Amino acid sequence: MEYRRLGSAGVKVSAISLGAWLTYGSNLVSEEQAAACIRRAIEHGINFIDVADIYSEGRAEEVVGRVIKDYKRSDLVISTKAYWPMSDNINDRGLSRKHIVESVEKSLKRFQTDYIDIFFCHRFDEETPVEETVRAIDDLIRQGKILYWGTSMWNAAQLQEALCVSRMVNANRPVVEQPEYNMLDRDFVEGQLDQFALANGIGLVVWSPLAQGILTGKYNDGIPEDSRVALIDWVKEYATQDKLDKARAISQLAAEMGVTPAALALAWTLKNPAVSSAITGASRPEQVDQNVKALEVEITPEIDERIEAILQNKPVVKKYG
Ligand SMILES: NC(=O)c1ccc[n+]([C@@H]2O[C@H](COP(=O)([O-])OP(=O)(O)OC[C@H]3O[C@@H](n4cnc5c(N)ncnc54)[C@H](OP(=O)(O)O)[C@@H]3O)[C@@H](O)[C@H]2O)c1
Repeated sequence: MEYRRLGSAGVKVSAISLGAWLTYGSNLVSEEQAAACIRRAIEHGINFIDVADIYSEGRAEEVVGRVIKDYKRSDLVISTKAYWPMSDNINDRGLSRKHIVESVEKSLKRFQTDYIDIFFCHRFDEETPVEETVRAIDDLIRQGKILYWGTSMWNAAQLQEALCVSRMVNANRPVVEQPEYNMLDRDFVEGQLDQFALANGIGLVVWSPLAQGILTGKYNDGIPEDSRVALIDWVKEYATQDKLDKARAISQLAAEMGVTPAALALAWTLKNPAVSSAITGASRPEQVDQNVKALEVEITPEIDERIEAILQNKPVVKKYG
């Protein structure tokens, strides 16, 4: 396994990590299967496991918590998040001091642990001053309940505000941002956010690096009945013909290289110097085995150019070999 720093912070996370969204604690993946995936990930040296309060309404934290009890807590980097509504209660959402403090207490209970390694603000909250959020998180850090904090889907301007406020009130600053990033969804990261992250010591841990599994090529010959596209309606809508065509072309390139499309797609996200980790999902342990192979894939300038040609629907202008 390769480990990368979280931006300029000292903590190191595995370049391939495992997330629990739509899988663990849901009715799509049994607890036994979830445990098998998490155990396989840890066997491969994955140390970063990403969860959120909202994943399966808290059950993902419970499932992950039961599995990690068998491991040394200090060997793992466990994250969770808050922002999305957890009930009809008007205060059971957002990034207010009230919600963050109460949410973290509930997450700790569900995980059965004393601290969360990384706490993410799951989205930007337009209705709470950033200073209130920063101070609440800083208090939790000083109490030892959180070690590091970050954001998810915050743009460069919002991150800039968080950095300025943290400095202004002498609070711990965010060290990580969690954006969507894969070959088919790259606009949020490339250009502004990744440059801002590099310049400000913020590590990017990117979600859906396989575009919900589409980039594994599993849909090249139809829709497997136990796959996410078959089982979740909105993922079916996400899987447009254009995405499926590009995934097929990426699969052909991967075959020429003698690697799997999944490994190639993950290696592509990891070559962005702002990226600390690609947070993969897995519904079965064999997927974890395949995905960690990304670390063996080399993307040469020629391969990179061929990938760009596929993603931008352009012919390759041959310059090499
Ligand atoms: N911060 C946010 O707002 C946010 C949003 C989304 C996700 N996330 C985080 O990012 C994590 C990953 O997201 P994701 O699950 O969408 O990532 P992904 O890696 O793009 O997709 C994972 C899914 O693809 C399929 N898959 C994975 N590897 C495969 C392989 N080698 N062969 C065939 N199929 C394979 C599996 O689905 P099936 O087997 O069911 O088809 C798996 O559950 C989440 O768990 C969560 O921690 C964060």
